[in-house]
Amino acid sequence: MNQVVVVTGASGGIGRAVARAFGAREARVALLARGEEGLDAAAGDVTREGGTALAIPTDVADFAQVEAAAERAEKELGPIDVWVNVAFTSVFAPFSEIEPDEFRRVTEVSYLGYVHGTMAALRRMKPRDRGTIVQVGSALAYRGIPLQSAYCGAKHAIQGFNESLRCELLHEGSHVRTTMVQMPAVNTPQFSWVRSKLPHQAQPVPPIYQPEVAARAVLHAADHPRRREYWVGGSTAGTLLANAVAPGILDRYLAKTGYQSQQTDADKPAGQPENLWAPADRSRDYGAHGRFDRKSTPRSFQLWASTHHGLLAAGGSALAATALAVWRRARS
Ligand SMILES: NC(=O)c1ccc[n+]([C@@H]2O[C@H](COP(=O)([O-])OP(=O)(O)OC[C@H]3O[C@@H](n4cnc5c(N)ncnc54)[C@H](OP(=O)(O)O)[C@@H]3O)[C@@H](O)[C@H]2O)c1
Repeated sequence: MNQVVVVTGASGGIGRAVARAFGAREARVALLARGEEGLDAAAGDVTREGGTALAIPTDVADFAQVEAAAERAEKELGPIDVWVNVAFTSVFAPFSEIEPDEFRRVTEVSYLGYVHGTMAALRRMKPRDRGTIVQVGSALAYRGIPLQSAYCGAKHAIQGFNESLRCELLHEGSHVRTTMVQMPAVNTPQFSWVRSKLPHQAQPVPPIYQPEVAARAVLHAADHPRRREYWVGGSTAGTLLANAVAPGILDRYLAKTGYQSQQTDADKPAGQPENLWAPADRSRDYGAHGRFDRKSTPRSFQLWASTHHGLLAAGGSALAATALAVWRRARS
């Protein structure tokens, strides 16, 4: 197939797993992030899997850098088929402890980084009338939680801007597609390098999925981008449904549980690296996985069901038809 794919945030976490999975399809993958240690290792992953890698150090908060990266990716790899926005950063802290420059930086990376990536992709895809943009989102694109105000704001903003863009593309009759994949808690390095003002070690709220589950969802979305949105994991589906029905109850539930569930019992390690202003991986490759391997699952039945709903519907219909036939025979 040899697709040309751009992945932002490819040096670690979900982006790294996505890049590797595209590599296994022998895709030509442009890897965008800032940390050169992680980027070099990600390029090694893609090449080992059979793909072609091009690492382009880029700060997604700077549109000029994103545009230059897109230009270089097309020059060296070919026309971009798929652009996956993944890069993000955050500050784990109560809102009242976040400084204005920190909030702005999170917004510039985590929200505007997606806007920049989408603009650079569309500039190339729209004239060709083909291409797919995948926005890696979160259950927190709909549901705000305590200690993550800047991040939740960015994820909600991506959801809104992407919805507008989708309407515009449909209005224009464009064949360029955009879709969003709402993720559950995933075991990635973010909990070891996002700036944290919490007293204890930050953790994803269980159930925790391995980044390969997220990568499978992204590749499926890239292959089937007509669906407006994918939900990954039973916890995402449960959160989004509960929030649609009873958001006030969730406010109170999260007020009660959200501080504790986002931290382990261990103290935050002294001198933990931070990636807010500069990459954290200067002397070490963090990889795709975080420190919660033992608590994380490599599978999601909900994702399987969501990506095989045709098969499930056919199976359900066949079962119903069989049951009906058996019941009729029993009655005759
Ligand atoms: N992990 C979860 O529990 C979870 C849950 C729901 C949704 N998600 C979503 O999944 C995506 C990835 O999360 P993750 O947990 O994999 O994150 P992660 O482990 O912290 O990795 C973040 C990636 O973004 C890059 N990045 C950070 N700042 C950047 C900048 N200014 N410019 C370019 N790249 C930058 C990082 O590389 P450099 O530092 O080298 O630049 C790294 O490659 C995010 O959009 C997040 O919202 C994650």
